[in-house]
Formats: sequence, structure tokens, C-alpha cells
Amino acid sequence: MSTQASTARMEKIVSLCKRRGFIFQSSEIYGGLNGFWDYGPLGAELKRNVKELWWKSMTRLRDDIVGLEATIIMHPKVWQASGHVDTFSDPMSTCRACKKLVRSDQVWDMLETTPWAQAVRETSPEGKPNPEALLKWAKGKGLRAVPNFVFVKDPEAFLARVAAHTGEWDAQGQSLIQILCTADAAGPLSMPCPHCAGELTEPRPFNLMFKTYVGPAATEEDIAYLRPETAQAIFVQFKNVVDSTRVKVPFGICQIGKAFRNEVTPRNFTFRSREFEQMELEFFIKPDDVVQAQTGAVAALAPDAPHGEPQPNWGWELWHKYWVEERFRWYESVGLKRSSLEEYWQKPDELAHYARATVDILYKFPFGTQELEGIAARSNFDLTQHQTHSGKSMEYFDQEANLRYVPHVIEPSAGVDRLILALLCEAFEEEEVTDEKGQTETRTVLRFHPRVAPVKVGIFPLLKNKPDLVQKAIEVRDMLRPLMNVFYDDGGAIGRRYRRQDEAGTPFCLTIDFDTIGENGPEKEGTVTLRHRDSMTQERVRIADLPALLLGKIS
Ligand code: GAP
Repeated sequence: MSTQASTARMEKIVSLCKRRGFIFQSSEIYGGLNGFWDYGPLGAELKRNVKELWWKSMTRLRDDIVGLEATIIMHPKVWQASGHVDTFSDPMSTCRACKKLVRSDQVWDMLETTPWAQAVRETSPEGKPNPEALLKWAKGKGLRAVPNFVFVKDPEAFLARVAAHTGEWDAQGQSLIQILCTADAAGPLSMPCPHCAGELTEPRPFNLMFKTYVGPAATEEDIAYLRPETAQAIFVQFKNVVDSTRVKVPFGICQIGKAFRNEVTPRNFTFRSREFEQMELEFFIKPDDVVQAQTGAVAALAPDAPHGEPQPNWGWELWHKYWVEERFRWYESVGLKRSSLEEYWQKPDELAHYARATVDILYKFPFGTQELEGIAARSNFDLTQHQTHSGKSMEYFDQEANLRYVPHVIEPSAGVDRLILALLCEAFEEEEVTDEKGQTETRTVLRFHPRVAPVKVGIFPLLKNKPDLVQKAIEVRDMLRPLMNVFYDDGGAIGRRYRRQDEAGTPFCLTIDFDTIGENGPEKEGTVTLRHRDSMTQERVRIADLPALLLGKIS
């Protein structure tokens, strides 16, 4: 998909989210707050369904994982031990011209979608600088839009240098914008501000944790942080969980909850927010040397072979692989096609200091292929850190092995909001359809998997001024609503009601008509029309069969 088409698709999704009550800007009537989003009635249902499915798959359908719900504000020493106070920062630059702040490591990515950078690219569709078109742009539209751009200030001199060195620059794989930002072939690349193309300052670290004060004194000693991840609470409560339950390593503790990061540049709708939710699992495993001592040998990782069921001789590598595969399977079960996902193994220089390996599950968003979840093998870094900083032992006594150790951990960490956005992007479709009168129109449909769909069934009496139809429709609604989220609608033509539910992603609609109430003979009495969202086909179904039939499709 071209950049323009992707941008247009994303705009349509954002507009549908607002129009139909999936996602609103936080505090919109006051102009909004950058990086904060609210979920409207349909979004709240969708989010609940997703979290419920994750929780169920982690806890209720397994014997080896238990849940936790911890506070958002914890003792500040937690974040010293975890390393967040010292190292949880992003590089940040300030524009010398417009004074805006940007994340230095995202500048080149941001320029992919910035209008002025797009205009520069359009001057040279072949990728190689087109001097004539560039000069025209620099002296006209460019001068008006981005007068601070180093290239616009002296385009002739720049183009002379570009002409002299194009071959060399191309060989370095630089984009046209990068070429234009390079003062001379040997000189350093100066990053332009994505907003105004002005000069950016050198990057400096900016800690992403939100600070607050606990208690009325509000002194330096009272500083606390809003948690930037849910994971640390799990490590901090590890001992309590072990002591209060019958879990045995290998086992996991999972948590769903809010996390906060004062992101320098929140963007791409909800993708990078300042307040968001995470679904995290810390799965504790035996250190490899304990597995070796107990089983004789740690099972070797065969990258292309299926791992099968967990075995006592699994070391961290096989557990890591196991969780990567489990998580891919789960995403497919909620409606993301395998072809929309990618697996990315972080390179050694990208790994966090505690990680032995991290696999990111990426989703192909319209604005680029980006991370949905990270699955990290974190060794025993966190428990050891908390043991050191708190002075409390984090050792686990393994009865089988008859020894004590600090368990290692595999951490699948997913973002709820990113998944909601992925589900919306995956489900969104516009298609040309022909109505009964032969007229074509564009149908907007959200093809959610019935499991996650906010509303499972739309229930419509054919006419709202026929009490028998209305009464029967209400009976059907009251029968189904303890079992699933239904939406009763008696307003407007049936076709319009179907379209409204298509946009909400409702997989099934039921129409109660004159056949239902026996006006056209006894054989169809007690049946309704069941209309399927995706195929738009309709079938006649007995009311008595509806609960089992629908539950079978949504569970
Ligand atoms: N405990 C590990 C951890 O927090 P992370 O990669 O920083 O790892 C995990 O975050 C997941 O949380 C990401 O894959 C993403 O889905 C989500 N996430 C992180 N920052 C986010 C943000 N600013 N907005 C929305 N989701 C975010």
C-alpha cells in the first residue's frame, strides 16, 4: 500500500473510532491531552473482551499460571532496583527554531509521514535527486512551508554539492531527505525537526517515568512514580505468591493493568500513548544449570522443529520459543491473521541489558510494521536486583532438586491498546455492495472475530409500530442478554440497521418479522432471520436454538 493510501486508511479508521464510539481524545472539550485516549461504549466492550480472553487463556485454562492485581504506585526503591530511575530514558532533542521536543531516535521514521518531507520526495520520484524539481520546490512551496530547512536556505549551493556526491551518498543507502540534510559529503548528518525542518539540538536522555508525591509534605523524599510497566510488581510479590499458593517452578504470575510513560512524541493514534494498559506474564523457570543437574542435559533448541509440550529438560531457550509460539497462536485466536504478523529477533546491540534474547511480535499497521508484544528472556536479573536492594531473599526452594536458587524468567509483555488498534486495523474494510434496488454503495464493515466483537448480536423488530413484533423482539433480547452483549434497535429501515451494526463489527443480527409471530402460517412461527455480517447471507433459525448456536460461535 502506498504511503498516501495507508495514511488515508488510517484517517478513516480514526474517524470511524470517534463516530461510532470506539475511541475518543481524552478531555476533548478542552482541546485534548496529547498521548491520552478514552474508550467509548464500543471500545470499552472491545477492550474488556480482549483482556478477558487473555486472562482466561493465561489463568483459567492453565494450571501453571496465577494472577495478580497490584498498585500503580509502589515504593520508589522498586524503580531504583529495576534500573528505571537510572536508565529508563529516551534520547530527546529540541528544535532550535520552533522549540518543539522530539525523540531523536524517531526523527527519520517521523519524516516518512511528515508533509514537507513527502513533498521533497515527490520532487524526485526515482529516489535520486531531481535538481530542477528540488530547486523549484525550495524557492516556492518549500520556502513557505519550511523556511528553516537548511536546504531551502541555500538550495543552489546544496544542489551543487549533491550533484558532486550523489553516487557516494546513494552508496551509503541514505534517503533523499538525509542527502539534503548533509551539509557536505564528509560532514555529519544533521537531523531536521520533523515539524519545521529546523536544526535539532544534540540528543540528551529524558526519563520517561511520571513523578508524583505521596503524602502532603511533597518534599524530595516523597517522590514516587506511576509504574512504567506492570512487571515489577510481579517480581516484588514473587515471594508472597510462592508462600501463599501451591505453585512450583516452572510457573507464571500474570497481571493486566495501567502503565504510564511520559513519551516524548506520542503518535500514531493510540499506538504510542502516555497512559496505556499492559498484559504481562512473568514465567519463572529453573536456571539451566539446575535443569542440567536434574535431567542430565538441557534439551537443545531446534529452531525449525515444533517444541511440543513442556518437558523437564527444557532450558530457557526452549521455554522462550514455547512462549513465542503460544503468543502467536493466541493472536490468531482473537482474529489477527498470521500473515499480518511478523516475528522479529532483536539483534545483540538492541537487547535490553537484562535480556538474553527478545522476540518482538510485530503487526503490519497502516503506518508501518510495529511492535505489539515483546517476549524477553530476562534471566534472573529482576529478582536478583530486588534481593540486593531490599535485602530480602528471593530464593526459591526446589523440593525436586533439593536446592535453592533464584528462578529465571521468560516475559511475554503485550500492550492492550496496541492490540485494540491492531484489531481495528485488521477488521476495517470498505466494500462496494449492491442493494435490492440495484444501487451500489460503499459498506464499511469491521470484521472482528466474534470472540472480541463488542456487540455479539443486533436484535431488530421489523417494524416498531407493531406491538406483537416488538414484544417478541424484547423476549428474544431478554433471553439472550444474560449470555452475551446484545443491541436492540428498532429505528429506521432494516438495511440501515444492518449497516450500523456492520460499522460496529457486530457479527450477527436477528430480525423478528411476521413469520416469527405466525402471521404467515405455523411452519415459520418461532423462527427469526439470522443475518451474518461478513457474507451478508441470511438464514431462518428457531428462537429456541439461538442460545446454543450463538454461544458456539462467540466462545
Ligand atoms: N515489561 C517489559 C516491557 O514493559 P516494553 O516493550 O517496554 O516491555 C511492552 O512494553 C509492551 O507494552 C509493548 O510491546 C507495547 O505493546 C506496550 N507499550 C509500551 N509502551 C507503550 C506506549 N507508550 N503506548 C502503548 N503501548 C505501549
